[in-house]
Amino acid sequence: MTLVSEALGDHHDLSAFVSGQPSLDSWLAQHARGADARRVARTFVWHYGDGVVVASYSLAAHVLMKDQLPRALGRGGPEHIPAVLLARLALASRLQGEGLGSVVLAEALGRLVEATKAVAARFVVVDAIDAEAARFYEHHGFRPIPGTVRLVQKLSDVAAAVGGGV
Ligand SMILES: CC(C)(COP(=O)(O)OP(=O)(O)OC[C@H]1O[C@@H](n2cnc3c(N)ncnc32)[C@H](O)[C@@H]1OP(=O)(O)O)[C@@H](O)C(=O)NCCC(=O)NCCS
Repeated sequence: MTLVSEALGDHHDLSAFVSGQPSLDSWLAQHARGADARRVARTFVWHYGDGVVVASYSLAAHVLMKDQLPRALGRGGPEHIPAVLLARLALASRLQGEGLGSVVLAEALGRLVEATKAVAARFVVVDAIDAEAARFYEHHGFRPIPGTVRLVQKLSDVAAAVGGGV
């Protein structure tokens, strides 16, 4: 079966989505469409052609303060560093542990790289919901910001990895 990735729309069925993180599931079901309408976050979903959502993530413009970053990462940047927040990445629990989460993350990063060809951003930022999620992101090249739940990765590194070249 082929997975379809697209922007969240009215025809998507979110009612049965269970990721193992209830706060992510309820935000998706109750708030994602409102956030999209208010241009607070764009949500993208995956389904098997039937509209029943099996994965999702949200993207939003973001700003990092240089003094909140480890010195090596903030070096050379302005005080307010443009970034993109990758939020609430989640995969249906019955599909977890088989490499699909990595595929969803890679697709999200590819979408980000395309978007930042038109609107500059230096970092992609994630807020890990727990230690497991933080390890998942570290495994994929994100660097933790000490003392926070936040991890970041340079978009130039992401672009090089996905062949986007920006
Ligand atoms: C986080 C999540 C998307 C990962 O998806 P997944 O399908 O379970 O993960 P994958 O099977 O794709 O794992 C990908 C890789 O990350 C590694 N990995 C996954 N979880 C890990 C962990 N807790 N610690 C270290 N590595 C981990 C795997 O070993 C695998 O490595 P490999 O590609 O070299 O084999 C999924 O578990 C999920 O939706 N969890 C609930 C919601 C959540 O916590 N979201 C996090 C955002 S806040």
